[in-house]
Amino acid sequence: MRRVILAVGNLEFVIEHFETLESTMNTAKELAEKGAKEGTVIIADRQTHGRGRDDRSWESPEGGLYLSLILKPDIPANEAHQLIFLSGVAVAKTLSEITEEKMEIKWPNDIVHSYGKIAGVLCETSTVGEELRYAVLGMGINTNIPHFSYELEESAISLLQITKNEYKNRRIAQRILEEISERYEDFPSNFPQLVGEWRVLSNILGKEVLLDGEKVKAIDVDEQGFLIVEDREGSQRKILSGTIEYGQSHVERIKTE
Ligand code: BTN
Repeated sequence: MRRVILAVGNLEFVIEHFETLESTMNTAKELAEKGAKEGTVIIADRQTHGRGRDDRSWESPEGGLYLSLILKPDIPANEAHQLIFLSGVAVAKTLSEITEEKMEIKWPNDIVHSYGKIAGVLCETSTVGEELRYAVLGMGINTNIPHFSYELEESAISLLQITKNEYKNRRIAQRILEEISERYEDFPSNFPQLVGEWRVLSNILGKEVLLDGEKVKAIDVDEQGFLIVEDREGSQRKILSGTIEYGQSHVERIKTE
């Protein structure tokens, strides 16, 4: 394990870098339970049991960037989902800055390029009643992955596949942490501005999408972080979680062979 300290604004990141972990989420949570401070970052070169949203597995071969960050914001437990906007915006902005490619956010936690899903973000929390003890933000980024498994090759894409360039994972991690720190300083009072940034990056607003299989129109995200959708009868409702599919095929495939 290598340890690097990176101070950005009010946050001091203590970055612990491992070669192989089951999941950086598990290691970060174990450390948080032992009292690790806010700003602790766990990075792995590969994960044997990487996980995504809804306990789906997250393919984590060498070449990708797998990172978890412990945060302890002063917010009630039921507002912790707002942190997903922080990491989504930070990852999307970093990846488009580094590659000069357009990166968008597909609610709630996918970072997508027109060729496929490039990254996913996850927020897991520990709560006592209404109190948030800590949150762990997980970010999985397909940086230098030459090819994906048969199951993923239609939906996932890597920076290497898009640009034919290799990227320094350490540099990308540092930029993401800088982007997070910049926005975390005033969190949660700056949440409306964060949602403003998110709106610009979102690729579903104003569009017909499938929400858990139901055809709806994605209207907006409100100032609490709920997605507002309108059903076919014209009634609107607020959604905290769900799976969005595009109404029509969105992904143009490229041949990388
Ligand atoms: C998703 O799109 O479902 C979220 C994927 C999050 C994957 C990252 S990789 C680093 C961290 N460790 C994990 O096991 N998962 C997250």
